[in-house]
Amino acid sequence: MFGKKKQVSTIDKDQLELIENAQKRIRQKKRLYIHFVIFLIGAVFLILANTVLGIGKEFTIAGVDWFVYAILAWLFLFAYHFFNVFITNKFMGKDWEKQQLDKLVNQQQLRIEKLKQNFLKEETKMAQSQAYNEAKAVESSSEKKNSNELTIIVAAGEKNAIGKDNDLIWHLSDDLKRFKKLTNGHHIIMGRKTFESFPKPLPNRIHIVITRQSDYNVPDGVIVVNSLEDALDAARKDNQPFIIGGGEIYKQSINRVDKLEITRVHSTFEDADTFFPKIDTSIWREVSRTTHDADEKHAHAFSFITYLKK
Ligand SMILES: NC(=O)c1ccc[n+]([C@@H]2O[C@H](COP(=O)([O-])OP(=O)(O)OC[C@H]3O[C@@H](n4cnc5c(N)ncnc54)[C@H](OP(=O)(O)O)[C@@H]3O)[C@@H](O)[C@H]2O)c1
Repeated sequence: MFGKKKQVSTIDKDQLELIENAQKRIRQKKRLYIHFVIFLIGAVFLILANTVLGIGKEFTIAGVDWFVYAILAWLFLFAYHFFNVFITNKFMGKDWEKQQLDKLVNQQQLRIEKLKQNFLKEETKMAQSQAYNEAKAVESSSEKKNSNELTIIVAAGEKNAIGKDNDLIWHLSDDLKRFKKLTNGHHIIMGRKTFESFPKPLPNRIHIVITRQSDYNVPDGVIVVNSLEDALDAARKDNQPFIIGGGEIYKQSINRVDKLEITRVHSTFEDADTFFPKIDTSIWREVSRTTHDADEKHAHAFSFITYLKK
C-alpha cells in the first residue's frame, strides 16, 4: 500500500518511435562526424608518413604517390558514409518506407471503397430487376386469373340447324340440364331474338342482351348492350362467360371464343331457318365426347362434344 508507485509511461507508441528515431539519427550523425575527423587526421598522417617519414617514398602509381590513392579511396568511403546518412536515409529510411506504405494503403482503401460502391450499385440494380420480374410475374398471374374462357354453348343438328321461327326445333331434357349446369352462376350473352324466345329470364345467371335498339326494355337485372364488344366487356370479370346464341351472334363470335360446348343432335332438320356456323377442324380440336342414345324422353340421339382452340 505504501510501496513505491510503479511509474506508468505517458508516452504513447508513436512518440516513443519518434524519440528512438531521433536518437538513432543523432548517433548516425555523430558517427559521421567522428569518421570525418578520423579521415582528416588519417589523411594528414598518410601525407606525413610519406613525405616526412619517407614510408613508401619509392612507390608510385602512374607517377602519383601512393598516399594520394589511399586518401582518395578513404574520401570515397567517407562520401559513401555521408550519402548513407543524409541521402539514402532521407529517401529510403523508415519514414520514407512508412510514407510509401501509407500511400499504398490509401490507394488500396480508395479502390476497395470504389469496388464497394460498384458492388452496391450492382446489388441495387439486381434487386430492382428482381423486384420488377416478381411484379411482372404477379401481374401476369393476376392477368391469367382475370382472363376468361369465353365459351359458346349450342345445340345443333347434323347440318348445323339450331332453330326455327325463333324457337328450338327439339326438346332434349338432358341437354337443357347440361346447359343449366354449365351456365349456372355465369354471364350469358345472347342476341335480342334469342332473349325474346325465353318466356322469362333464366334464374341465377346474368343476362346480357345485344341489340341495335337504343331504347330496348328489359326486366330488372338484365344488361342491354349495343355491340358484341360491349357484351364481352360487361362480362370481363366472369372467368367463363357463355355465348348462348342465336345464329347471328354465334356467327359473329365463333372466331373470338376459346371453347365450344356443342350438343350435336344426330338428326337433320330440313325446315330449320337458323344455323350454327360450320366448325373448322383445322382451328378446333375435339377434347371430349359423350354420346346419348334416343329414348322415351329424348326423340333424338345426341352427343356432348367439347372443342378447344388448337
Ligand atoms: N340451338 C341452340 O342452341 C340455340 C341457341 C340460341 C338460339 N337458338 C335459336 O336461334 C334463333 C335466334 O337466332 P337469330 O340469329 O335469329 O337471332 P339472335 O342472334 O338471337 O339475335 C339477333 C339480334 O341480335 C341483335 N344483334 C345481332 N348482332 C348485333 C350487333 N353486332 N350489334 C348489335 N345488335 C346485334 C339484333 O337485335 P335488334 O334487331 O334488336 O337490333 C339482331 O336482330 C332462334 O330460333 C333460337 O331458338 C338456338
